[in-house]
Amino acid sequence: MSIALLYERSESDENGIKFTAQQLGIDLTYIPFRKIALSISKNGFSAKTKGKDYTSIINGTAVVLNRAQSKNRRLQASYIMEMLGKKTLNTSQSEFICYSKLRTLLHLFKEGIPIPKTVFVPCDSTDTLKNGKEIHNEKDIADLFEQEIPLEEGIVIKADAGTHGKMIMLSKTREELEASIKETKSSIINPIGVVAQELVQKWFYDLRIIVSKEKGKHPVCYHTAMARAGFKDFRTNTFLGNLVFHAKLPLSIQELAVKCGKTLGKGSEAWIFALDAMVDVKDNKNADDVYLKGELDKAAQAFGPVQKVKADEMRLTDFEAWTVKLEKAFNGYKNIESYENIKNIIEENVEKNKSALVFHESNSCPEFWENTRLATGLNVAIPLLNGAQSLIDH
Ligand SMILES: Nc1ncnc2c1ncn2[C@@H]1O[C@H](COP(=O)(O)OP(=O)(O)O)[C@@H](O)[C@H]1O
Ligand SMILES: [Mg+2]
Repeated sequence: MSIALLYERSESDENGIKFTAQQLGIDLTYIPFRKIALSISKNGFSAKTKGKDYTSIINGTAVVLNRAQSKNRRLQASYIMEMLGKKTLNTSQSEFICYSKLRTLLHLFKEGIPIPKTVFVPCDSTDTLKNGKEIHNEKDIADLFEQEIPLEEGIVIKADAGTHGKMIMLSKTREELEASIKETKSSIINPIGVVAQELVQKWFYDLRIIVSKEKGKHPVCYHTAMARAGFKDFRTNTFLGNLVFHAKLPLSIQELAVKCGKTLGKGSEAWIFALDAMVDVKDNKNADDVYLKGELDKAAQAFGPVQKVKADEMRLTDFEAWTVKLEKAFNGYKNIESYENIKNIIEENVEKNKSALVFHESNSCPEFWENTRLATGLNVAIPLLNGAQSLIDH
């Protein structure tokens, strides 16, 4: 019985998992999860693409590493594989929770883990009647939010199932608030209602923290987080052009992160999550913004060569050589003085504000090969593969 990597498209992360499995001597099989017919009938189950029959591969699979990219496809994949008797990493139960920011926050809230104040209104911004007439609910929804969160301090409206900073909108005036609510039309990334959050007074960075568990072992939090940083946008997603650094985590934060993992992974023997957290720094800063912007500019310049390698098509044709090239470029970036200076400021600031940290999201299928791994030193493929291996009954 083997471990299967299930995926839609083979990107850097999936290639990284394959490469790491080779290095660890773990056999992997592959299950495509896009143009494949999964069929059930009185004759049993089959799985076929146009060119290949995957049925026996799936039959011989004990554990599925679910790397389907879209949240919907990933949830469906875990559920199907579990129904076929496979162990999954992560389980459909965890996928179901992480799919929705609100569901994630409900679980954290229930455990007493610090979160940003979050308000959910089940009503959609617009209702369309049978006769085509539209009813606008933006004003009522805005009133409900304003009852809970002072608008002057900022209200963040977010698509409940969004990713990469999409549809995360900050409003500070009534006009902006109504416009943002209007944007949240019911869609695949916002299936129902409207979610609002208080604006966390973070500084120029937020954190991505990796927690994982293998069967038969205690859960662990990796000691170093990836910090995404920049002043460009209140959203610090790297997707939006922000820079990455690493930051050693205080023990109290590591312990809280483990608690998050335990609740999100409840009921499963192995799991892995990338937790997003913000620090409510307010004025508790340890550097001057002007100085910091200067240092960030220098770091951004040094990051140029990294971005160039990332865009190099060589990653598709010669992944290993491309990885070596990427590591070299990333180390060049990490070795500049500004990187070290910014990293130190972040670490010191996290330590100063460790009791003001809030968790706001959990990613069940994190990207890691290009940023997390090189910034923090953790190759997420290792806990992922070890977790899968631990699920195989010997
Ligand atoms: N309540 C908030 N206060 C301040 N910044 C926020 C808040 N919510 C999100 N952000 C910023 O926007 C980014 C994206 O939001 P997030 O909820 O992580 O959604 P996603 O990463 O799925 O798009 C966060 O990393 C953070 O920088
Ligand atoms: Mg996020």
